[in-house]
Amino acid sequence: MEKEKFYITTPIYYPSDKLHIGHSYCTVATDTMARYKRLRGYDVMFLTGSDEHGQKIERIAKAQNTTPKAYTDKVVATFKDLWGKLDISYDKFIRTTDDYHVKAVQKIFKKLYDQGDIYKSEYEGLYCTPCETFFTEHQLVDGKCPDCGREVEKVKEESYFFKLSKYQDRIIKHMEENPEWLEPSTRQKEMINNFLKPGLEDLAVSRTSFTWGIPVEFDPGHIVYVWIDALSNYITALGYGSEDDSLFKKFWPADVHVVGKEIVRFHSIIWPAMLMALDLPLPKKIFGHGWLVINGNKMSKSVGNVVDPFVLVNKYGLDAIRYFLLREIAFGQDGNFSNEALIQRINSDLANDLGNLVSRTAGMIEKYFGGKLPSQQKETEFDADLIRVAKETANNVEEKMEKMLFSDALEEIWTLIRRTNKYIDETQPWILIKDEDKKDVLANALYNVAESIRIVSIMIQPFMPKTPALIWEQIGIKEGEITKWDSIKEWGLLGREVAVSKGEAIFPRIDMKKELAELEEAMKVAQAQAVANQPKKEEKEEEAVEEITIDDFLKVQLKVGEVISSEKVKKSKKLLRNVVKIGDEERVIFSGISEHYSPEEMVGKRVIVVTNLKPRKMMGEYSYGMILAGEDSDGNLSLATVDKADFESGSEVG
Ligand code: MSP
Repeated sequence: MEKEKFYITTPIYYPSDKLHIGHSYCTVATDTMARYKRLRGYDVMFLTGSDEHGQKIERIAKAQNTTPKAYTDKVVATFKDLWGKLDISYDKFIRTTDDYHVKAVQKIFKKLYDQGDIYKSEYEGLYCTPCETFFTEHQLVDGKCPDCGREVEKVKEESYFFKLSKYQDRIIKHMEENPEWLEPSTRQKEMINNFLKPGLEDLAVSRTSFTWGIPVEFDPGHIVYVWIDALSNYITALGYGSEDDSLFKKFWPADVHVVGKEIVRFHSIIWPAMLMALDLPLPKKIFGHGWLVINGNKMSKSVGNVVDPFVLVNKYGLDAIRYFLLREIAFGQDGNFSNEALIQRINSDLANDLGNLVSRTAGMIEKYFGGKLPSQQKETEFDADLIRVAKETANNVEEKMEKMLFSDALEEIWTLIRRTNKYIDETQPWILIKDEDKKDVLANALYNVAESIRIVSIMIQPFMPKTPALIWEQIGIKEGEITKWDSIKEWGLLGREVAVSKGEAIFPRIDMKKELAELEEAMKVAQAQAVANQPKKEEKEEEAVEEITIDDFLKVQLKVGEVISSEKVKKSKKLLRNVVKIGDEERVIFSGISEHYSPEEMVGKRVIVVTNLKPRKMMGEYSYGMILAGEDSDGNLSLATVDKADFESGSEVG
């Protein structure tokens, strides 16, 4: 019989010098679903990739004195390293710079143009470069980008337009008729009320002011708008628009596009409209997950709150990190990351509940039976309830997984783990061993525990790629029929004569206090390395010189920054910890100005910042730049600012 198909995708990632644990979250979740479906016998296609075009990349590459392609080549290699580290089992990695993709996007554009869905006109609008998105005046929030809060630029140029408005009613109808198409359901309401009902405007889908993109084949001065380019990846990766579209025929429509909440709009409005125009079926589901935040803020490398996935995996192991991400955060909602919460979960759920169950069981079989259970076994009054919970758990886990409720599925699995630990307390093997006549009861009790561990080990497979094999080794399970997914529904498949080889603890307990200090240090080092990503020059003690050349002066990069928050640093008389917005980015900068300015006075000030100063560690945290101030003969400080109070932050000073 032919296997059922399952096509799942992550967003394709923007090249970024630093992928943080927030980026990993989406991919780990998608990977978990792909693994689950494979275990359930599906023919799975799991797609991920990189979204490499656009003005932002062109600018970064220029700033780094390199070409956009050389820059993205370098960054994409680091993506692949990270996905390898996280054991992401993708079947295909698409790069939007891949030749087949470029050609297929050109074909799509041409087809839409030929049939009248794309037309040429002139665009005047407000553009957010980091988000690669145009906005109308009324969509802005406080005059800034509604998605990321950054400044937008006025852009006027000749442009091709896609008739998005034409598809508005069909999209609304589709959403209303398929309430589970876009999940969680709150996102569907948001799209209908905030975007669709107020009315869609046609979308500018080409740009002429920069060149790093896919040229419109029949009008090469224009390049294709990056979202049209990027969204098409879901079909071009399968060969749509190429000579061999067999994968497309096999896998389209996608079963689910997993995307972060800020890009739901593109996936649930622009993408369906494009597909409707191409006369293709819509994806079966779009799942908009929440963000991993730190104290309510999205991770950002210059705010100093990024969490480095490499550091975490090296320290605690892949499975612990994957478990934490999927357990701690309800899929669909935002979730907070903290080192304490991570260690707490590792200690309580992994070391205590699961790890201890396995080592306790192997230890008792070793101690009481020399490592192998006798086949003669006798039931206990506690068996029935354990078996009932195991069967219920199997059903509940499947139900939650089908809905991509990962945290709930893990909670179900842990219900069985805790029930099994309770069963050990109920049957009290350490008492049974004292009575020679109860050896068969003892053997049965330990068998049941091992059988329950077998079922648990199968169910955790989608979440934890490494742990199941470690458990099997200890409980003497050979991979085969009794490790297949469907075997979780049957009790008693494990041979009665369980033979153990007790190994090391699968999740050692962590000393919270010691680790927290070490972990924070490791994170800061990783972060400082990321920020100071320019080749470092050797530090020299500056000698006092009377004159410098203009070239010397130009080495110092000065920019206008806006202080967006400021606080006193505990245990320091002088220091304020400021977050300064410099154009697109936000940085933490300490300044020794607390005796002259209160935090409230600092906020809103447009200050002059030295932006290319090597990050310096102050009071245990790095400072990324210097705020300039004058000092009079009495030691009073006065901030250097720009004369016009609303002068654009990010502007060069010189
Ligand atoms: N290139 C676009 C997607 C195009 S898809 C046709 C993009 N790229 S991204 O690199 O900015 O984001 C990729 C994914 O990472 C998004 O789904 C985004 O929501 C997710 N995350 C980035 N930071 C995140 C957190 N802090 N937490 C959870 N997910 C986050 O958007």
